[in-house]
Amino acid sequence: MANTNIYITKPLLPKIEDYKKELEDIWASMWLTNFGEKHNILENKLKDVLKVENLSLINNGTTALLIALKVLDLPIGSEVITTPFTFAATPHCITWNGCKPVFCDIEPETMTINADKIESLITPKTSAILGVHVYGFPCDVEKIDKIAKKRKLKVIYDAAHAFSTEINGKGIGNFGDITMFSFHATKLFNTIEGGCLTCKDKTLKEKINILRDFGIQSEEVIEDIGINGKMNEFQAAMGLENLKIFREEQQKRKELKEFYSQKLSDIKGIRIPKLSDNVSDSYQYYPIVIEDDFSVSRDELHEKLKSKNIYTRKYFYPACHDYECYKNEIYSDLKVVNDIKHRVLCLPFYGNLDIAAANEICEVIANV
Ligand SMILES: Cc1ncc(COP(=O)(O)O)c(C=O)c1O
Repeated sequence: MANTNIYITKPLLPKIEDYKKELEDIWASMWLTNFGEKHNILENKLKDVLKVENLSLINNGTTALLIALKVLDLPIGSEVITTPFTFAATPHCITWNGCKPVFCDIEPETMTINADKIESLITPKTSAILGVHVYGFPCDVEKIDKIAKKRKLKVIYDAAHAFSTEINGKGIGNFGDITMFSFHATKLFNTIEGGCLTCKDKTLKEKINILRDFGIQSEEVIEDIGINGKMNEFQAAMGLENLKIFREEQQKRKELKEFYSQKLSDIKGIRIPKLSDNVSDSYQYYPIVIEDDFSVSRDELHEKLKSKNIYTRKYFYPACHDYECYKNEIYSDLKVVNDIKHRVLCLPFYGNLDIAAANEICEVIANV
């Protein structure tokens, strides 16, 4: 039994002295928010890290997604085809924009929206597709792009789990019309709370920048109904420091992933979903899938680990179509997601999880 509780993650934090230096700059400048120096430096640095042309920082991923849907001007009452295998923020942002989420089933291996099932859900009311690169597994961006072009639909990606993921060396923020990233404390790279939007179209980025600042275009002109999406200097300072250390964190997680995979891959009934060779891993989560031939169910394994002070997460259970607020929404046959939601379990995954603890987790799973 673990002596201390082992949680699913630990936030990435710089050395406190380094953050204090950042704070001294803020005290000296007396500039706390509203597009300060740290904000602007972080925005530029992130463009290089994510390999994108246009990037707008936002104060959290949910506001970023709200703005992404708003800037695309999706008609009120229109339908947005999305995945139910995601965090609540994804369908909630669709609904807050006055649109309806239409839940589509997922792929068994990547657990992302099943692109082959999207077309059958398109109606005259469909305005967009919102895919989620869940656990850093990219959606089938090529297929989705083809469908969207053919059916004249907008495409938004939720890349909250896919910081720095690349497909064939291309940053994941280059697909679709707009991509959202979350920099929440639990994410690989964090600004405490925070996020950003990336897009290829410069005009769209300019509109995003206006919407994140209440719709203010200039001192006396407010044309759009914007929101407060501004990232403050304290968040940006955390981002600047975490940018210096996130690659090292990724390397540690890579080693942890290899350790887990080597220990768990021979256990009957444990499936480890695999990324394709052309995709670089973000190392944000470590999900396993509990198959029928494992000795106990996912829920029993979750409880067993908990009894040993090891806290895993049934992420995502329940799925979004199970929420009370979406019970009456339109959805198709969700066979795969209704199965996976009872099988997936995310294991503790962070750079400083020591090998002895990881070994103990694997031993509990092996001997359950
Ligand atoms: C898939 C997904 N979408 C959206 C969000 C919302 O991001 P934020 O917490 O930064 O608002 C999260 C996580 O928190 C997420 O996991």
